[in-house]
Amino acid sequence: MTPDELKIAVARAALPHVVEGALLGVGTGSTANHFIDLLAAEKIQVAGAIASSEASAARLRGHGIPVLALDDVIASGRRIPVYIDGADEIDPGLHLIKGGGGALTREKIVAAASDCFVCIADDSKCVDVLGRFPLPIEVIPMAAALVARALSALGGVPKIRDGFVTDNGNVILDVSGLKISDPVAFESELDHLTGSVTNGLFARRRADIALVSSAEGVRTLRG
Ligand code: A5P
Repeated sequence: MTPDELKIAVARAALPHVVEGALLGVGTGSTANHFIDLLAAEKIQVAGAIASSEASAARLRGHGIPVLALDDVIASGRRIPVYIDGADEIDPGLHLIKGGGGALTREKIVAAASDCFVCIADDSKCVDVLGRFPLPIEVIPMAAALVARALSALGGVPKIRDGFVTDNGNVILDVSGLKISDPVAFESELDHLTGSVTNGLFARRRADIALVSSAEGVRTLRG
């Protein structure tokens, strides 16, 4: 199977996890794009989608799926039963690295607001220890060098993502050279870096379910 066929297979496997008639959190990236297209093609009805990026919001609207603002949803007391999104790395405890597409901040917010996070990925994303994929960190532009210096002191090799601005008007540092054996502790440590907005470790709010595709089919992992 081609990489794209693996993404389509796992996106399709996520469809039964959608609660029809309810709100749905929708992620960002090529796997999430396949999921959005399949959701529309299969005519699965949701009350509305909460998107984790402007790109996903545009794609949802292009299919005629209403996109709601998260803040209005939460303020009105409504629940988001499921959030479906891809990942850049998944460890055996379903801790994730995300943000390869630069949408990590809104992804973390929608994931935190949702009752169940279903992660969809092909098995090239599965690792024993997180860190092979450079960890994205969204940073306030004026603090990029300051945060980079702090990340170097933690043993990482930060590199600014050239010419990239997030939906929130910030920049991304991609940090290589990390071996993240305690993702929960490291996420908390990174949360304390002044000037950083969000780090791409999804450890405290990890995935509840990971659907992982390979040439043998799609397997379901639970945290
Ligand atoms: C977007 O910011 C990311 O977190 C994506 O979810 C992640 O990069 C996976 O993307 P693909 O599905 O394109 O591999």
